[in-house]
Amino acid sequence: MTEKLIKSADRVKNHGEIFTPKRIVDLMIDQPEINAKVNDLQATFLEPSAGEGAFLTEILARRMSIALATSSNFSEYNRNCLIGLASLYGIELLEDNVESLVMNMNDTFRNAYRDGAQSAFEHEPSSKVLNSAKVIIRANMVQGDALKRITSDGKPIILSEWASVAGKKDYVQRTEYTFDAIVDGSGPTGKVAGATQQLDLFALDDDSTTDQHDEIKYVPCRWVDIYKEQLVE
Ligand SMILES: C[S@@+](CC[C@H](N)C(=O)[O-])C[C@H]1O[C@@H](n2cnc3c(N)ncnc32)[C@H](O)[C@@H]1O
Repeated sequence: MTEKLIKSADRVKNHGEIFTPKRIVDLMIDQPEINAKVNDLQATFLEPSAGEGAFLTEILARRMSIALATSSNFSEYNRNCLIGLASLYGIELLEDNVESLVMNMNDTFRNAYRDGAQSAFEHEPSSKVLNSAKVIIRANMVQGDALKRITSDGKPIILSEWASVAGKKDYVQRTEYTFDAIVDGSGPTGKVAGATQQLDLFALDDDSTTDQHDEIKYVPCRWVDIYKEQLVE
């Protein structure tokens, strides 16, 4: 099948919108240093001009295979699939591309998750996992101008960190940060610093303080209960 790499000449001119063909995506992701991070379920990737997800969907597909290969039971598989997904982030300027990006990430996750659940564990997919994946994808694939660091309505771009809770491997803590704070290394709702490179997006620094974004605090929960989006009261 022929890949559609441009939507219109105007979009190429105005937004530099040319999608990357699959063979180039594969070539780049196969570079050893990138591939090592793809294979590490917790390594962070941020695509600041994500388009429809040419890179992120391929990374996710590979992560799902790693999750399957490294899980010895169904509940471990559930957790590993969500961990592999939660460290993938995309920012995209154009609304229609963001919609496709979200849809493509959801499709990639759902299909790979279902196939692995049925073939390796003879289990039907868990709706908790699928719904938690939807919440993660909606939080991590955001509309915005990555250069100005704002959304189309002028608000700061917000990204969520999904951190495993020390000593409780089933549990995750979601924390929201402004993209500004991540890039500048100032603290938004919590403390983020030194996060100027893609693979170190949420490096923590206890000394940072600044905040421009109203704080939303999530209750730590099991990975498969992320879909509940429970807030601290
Ligand atoms: C060359 S395309 C690449 C898309 C995708 N990464 C791929 O490889 O298929 C560049 C993308 O960046 C988006 N874009 C342009 N300016 C942007 C900005 N300031 N912030 C975020 N996205 C932007 C465009 O809408 C377009 O989808």
